[in-house]
Amino acid sequence: MRRVPLVLIICLAIAAAVSAAQNAWTIPGDAADAKNPLPPSEAALKRGKSVFASRCQQCHGADGSGNGPAADPNHPAADLTDPSIVSLNPEGVLFYKIWNGKKPMPAFKSALTKDEVWAVVGYVESLGKQ
Ligand code: HEC
Repeated sequence: MRRVPLVLIICLAIAAAVSAAQNAWTIPGDAADAKNPLPPSEAALKRGKSVFASRCQQCHGADGSGNGPAADPNHPAADLTDPSIVSLNPEGVLFYKIWNGKKPMPAFKSALTKDEVWAVVGYVESLGKQ
């Protein structure tokens, strides 16, 4: 059996680390502490659902699983129902990600109000619980 040169293994490890760093979201320390100011209600959930249908569903899919018709196969939209994604995203982090976006996902800070984003945060959380 031929031995794989150590230098090749090191190069691959560095390349993997660099690409992981480029793919990561950068969330400022205090963003995760932000709390949804909208009291949970049927009305807030309904509003969140309608924002999701008009702004998110084309990429993330009607059920949030990431299979919307406009999703880029080379850069899939996240599965918002996946427990490993849900656990990464307390409500403050969801708000930050939606507000600021990350290519190819657009930022919504100029398209939606803060209340609309908090409403869709509540709706996204409800998708993760199904
Ligand atoms: C143009 C397609 C597109 C639209 C529209 C879009 N997204 Fe995304 N979204 C993506 C992609 C692609 C990613 C993965 C980004 C990455 O991790 O590189 C993503 C990631 C996310 C994440 C982060 C998941 C994680 O890895 O933690 C959340 C949350 C999210 N989107 C919610 C939304 C919501 C809510 C909306 C609507 C307000 C929306 N997105 C609209 C494409 C889109």
